[in-house]
Amino acid sequence: MIRFLTAGESHGKCLSLIVEGVPAGLCLSADDINRDLRRRQLGYGRGNRMKIETDSAEITAGVRNGVTLASPISVIIQNKDWENWKDIMSIEDKGDSSISDRSFSRPRPGHADFAGGIKYNQKDLRNILERASARETAIRVAVGAIAKKILDEINVFVTSFVTQIGKCSIANVWQFMEDARCLQFKSKIDFLRFQERIDSSPVRCPEPEAEKQMIEEIDSTKNSGDSIGGVFQVMAFNVPVGLGTHVHWDRRLDARIAYALMSIPAIKGVEFGLGFELAKRKGSKVHDEIFYDSEKGFYHRTNNAGGIEGGISNGETIVVKAVMKPIPTLTNPLKSVDLISKEPFMAFKERSDVCAVPSAGVVAEAMVAVELANAMLEKFGSDSISEIKQAFKSYMEYIAKY
Ligand SMILES: Cc1cc2nc3c(=O)[nH]c(=O)nc-3n(C[C@H](O)[C@H](O)[C@H](O)COP(=O)(O)O)c2cc1C
Repeated sequence: MIRFLTAGESHGKCLSLIVEGVPAGLCLSADDINRDLRRRQLGYGRGNRMKIETDSAEITAGVRNGVTLASPISVIIQNKDWENWKDIMSIEDKGDSSISDRSFSRPRPGHADFAGGIKYNQKDLRNILERASARETAIRVAVGAIAKKILDEINVFVTSFVTQIGKCSIANVWQFMEDARCLQFKSKIDFLRFQERIDSSPVRCPEPEAEKQMIEEIDSTKNSGDSIGGVFQVMAFNVPVGLGTHVHWDRRLDARIAYALMSIPAIKGVEFGLGFELAKRKGSKVHDEIFYDSEKGFYHRTNNAGGIEGGISNGETIVVKAVMKPIPTLTNPLKSVDLISKEPFMAFKERSDVCAVPSAGVVAEAMVAVELANAMLEKFGSDSISEIKQAFKSYMEYIAKY
């Protein structure tokens, strides 16, 4: 099992990761991680921070000569902005120099400031903000990149795109799902070509008309000092039938993916396949009929389930959507109360994104990849890549003969 811990404050020196459970024999370099770190920084609507930070990972343990050792892997991402925050975020006691105009006691509605300040008895809410900030999601992308490398070994590929920002959405998302379902990437190069098509859009939306409207929506939101959320879809291609299990609640693949997605800041809902649309349809218009062909074996003609039935992958593309709420830090702040004076005030303002849905999609890919890699390691062994590939090969032969 992959287990990971992260540490790091938003304006602290660095973000750190320790990830355990990565098998021996996996080729891994900092570039594998940096590619996804760059993808997380894409996206129309991000704040100035993205211009300061060009994230780059340093692997400090668990890899030798470009190959994993099965020992814990440690990764660091430096915060470039740290130079400007050294005194404020000093680890050593700097006396009064850590108290500055960066300290605040007027919680931002929608953030962890209020509940965290009371829970941890903090009067300077910076002590909550720094860890609650979504800066931490950069290091999650790092663990996701490692998980994706494990999945590459069995040709499983994970990506995402934005389906909605504010009221603007892809006109026919169902059609888009159908098209995506038909894609069976033979190689990583084919997959990367598909992913680059999505990433070349400033909002990571592959439909030009929707993309244009989404950009306009972000611009007008920014001009009015507001923020906006949206929906993205994560897809995992070439997932074999049989990952996850129905036998216990916490081992169901859909439950594990939903948990992982809900752990991302600002994600407030998750749906698989047709999702909430299921409520409107009769069973006969929902469930994916099963067919057999001597060439391709068992298959479905539809994928309304989103690739998981009974907590087990069913061989179709895994399709999961998540909704991101609008960013809570606003240029025109909402009403709040100063936790010290108890006087009403407008909430604290900090440099912030207007819309981070395109980036959140990349973070979500990482979390889905971690859960899929875990399910894969459970099924095919977890000590070495050669052992896993051997087990996978004989499992696929078994399915072919079933
Ligand atoms: C990629 C990403 C970027 C984010 N950027 C910001 C931001 O710039 N400003 C902000 O106030 N919230 C941002 N958020 C959302 C907050 O971190 C989140 O709303 C907050 O921690 C409260 O958690 P909750 O929304 O899950 O309750 C971002 C979230 C993600 C996933």
